[in-house]
Amino acid sequence: MYYLNSKVENLYRIFDQNERKDYLRLDLNENPGGFPEGIIKNVLKDITPQMLAQYPETLEFTRNLADFLGTDISHLCLVNGSAEGIRYIIQAFTSENGKIVGVVPSYFMFQVYSEMYGRNFVPVKYEENLEMDINHIISAMTDDTQLLILLNPNNPMGNTYSEEDFELLFKVAQERKINILIDEAYHYFYPKTFIKYALEKEHVFVTRTFSKLFSLAGCRLGYVVGWPEGIKMVQKLCTPHNTNFFAMRFANEMITHPELIDDLIRKFTEGREYLLQQLDKYGYSHKGEAGNFLFIKPKSDANVLVERMKEEKKILIKSYPDVGEMGTCLRVSIGGKKYMELFMDALKSLDS
Ligand SMILES: Cc1ncc(COP(=O)(O)O)c(C=O)c1O
Repeated sequence: MYYLNSKVENLYRIFDQNERKDYLRLDLNENPGGFPEGIIKNVLKDITPQMLAQYPETLEFTRNLADFLGTDISHLCLVNGSAEGIRYIIQAFTSENGKIVGVVPSYFMFQVYSEMYGRNFVPVKYEENLEMDINHIISAMTDDTQLLILLNPNNPMGNTYSEEDFELLFKVAQERKINILIDEAYHYFYPKTFIKYALEKEHVFVTRTFSKLFSLAGCRLGYVVGWPEGIKMVQKLCTPHNTNFFAMRFANEMITHPELIDDLIRKFTEGREYLLQQLDKYGYSHKGEAGNFLFIKPKSDANVLVERMKEEKKILIKSYPDVGEMGTCLRVSIGGKKYMELFMDALKSLDS
């Protein structure tokens, strides 16, 4: 009999991301302004035919990344996008039917991987006022929980955790021997980080990506931070040569030139301030304390608006149902001011 894994057969995945090139993409939290052009030229001029023919070397870049983060390479594992790191952590640190506690809504892949590997994902829902009550997370963490997933900040809710809240969650997780995964894909848009837990304690991982502020989603590069023994387990699951040569070259430019990072943050902050000011001016309620995205409550039907933005304005955005008391909302990625102007013009003309 031909075998097919029923978990794979029954898995629900969305494959709708291949016809986006002619649009202003504000749907997947990429940087619409792109990676700095001057750096692309600089990197490309040094590329030799051999470099493309050879499997990529990771040591130099990993050392630079460790310096950038103020640690050493035993705490780091490079991955082909942080989604890959998340998958490996779930594979290595949870079992078939094992319990994973995570907040909902959040990045969908946590639930996809849980289903893929037959894990039991326990969702902790946001309050109607879109706040997360950490007592609900604490009561969901039982002795048979294997992994707690937190996002700092959360996508799509944009919420964050105070130091005290995180300390309490960490304490409970330690008492119950639960590994923690903190997804910091949107770090740098929001500077507060819990990376020190992943560097100084055991059983805490932080995943980070070069896809968001660093504007390298097209190259696929991320990393897992954790205690050395935990990192070794993640490394064991990696496919050989999993990180792209170009990705490491471009990322290396970023981490060795802090002024480039400052410039990206400056452009993002200008776009965010403009968007918030315009939304307030035109009477839109919105939510999103941190991250490069915002929930916006439209005046007309959100799903119709998403379609019309696409068809009439060539702008991609997303709609989300049941965003607590805000109902069905738009989620819009934030980019530089000129992209936010295009979005606001389109919103004002279509949403009445
Ligand atoms: C919260 C969160 N984590 C992880 C990812 C995955 O990012 P990547 O695989 O590009 O590193 C995303 C992508 O949108 C995300 O929103």
